[in-house]
Amino acid sequence: MRQLLCFAVLVCALTFTAQGQTEVQHSGAKPTSPASGKEMFLAYCASCHGKDAKGDGPAASALKLAPADLTGLTKKYGKYPAMKVTTILNGQADLAAHGNTEMPVWGPIFFRMSQGHESETQQRIANLNHYIESLQAK
Ligand code: HEC
Repeated sequence: MRQLLCFAVLVCALTFTAQGQTEVQHSGAKPTSPASGKEMFLAYCASCHGKDAKGDGPAASALKLAPADLTGLTKKYGKYPAMKVTTILNGQADLAAHGNTEMPVWGPIFFRMSQGHESETQQRIANLNHYIESLQAK
């Protein structure tokens, strides 16, 4: 199980192959400041969810399942689902209810990046959460 979690320590980035086809490439997550939700969002989430979080990142077309429009969460759930986002980022939510999900699980990635400091992992998730909340469409 521990090994499996290590395999989850991957981020997807987009590459264009020689044939001009889009494919999702896995590479190590680059370290960012745990204090900046925006920096983390652009580094880890924008490839799929898009710079403006609307679900249109460069890797989106290579995925079977479209990445969610994260600016519409408040609309979709009635109020901003902070708990749900935390749960998803920790990797405890079952996003795959409708089959396979391509959304990486971030909890173990942030945990490793924080060198095993649980409080820093939670700070990363909280700051990302606040940043996404600040992007909600009115
Ligand atoms: C490899 C592409 C990819 C990356 C990178 C990615 N996501 Fe996702 N995300 C998805 C996909 C695809 C879905 C839809 C999953 C589903 O419905 O099963 C999703 C769904 C979500 C949802 C659920 C939305 C809802 O409507 O309930 C949240 C929240 C989310 N992502 C946040 C993030 C955050 C924050 C990051 C960066 C730390 C991130 N994602 C990085 C692909 C990605």
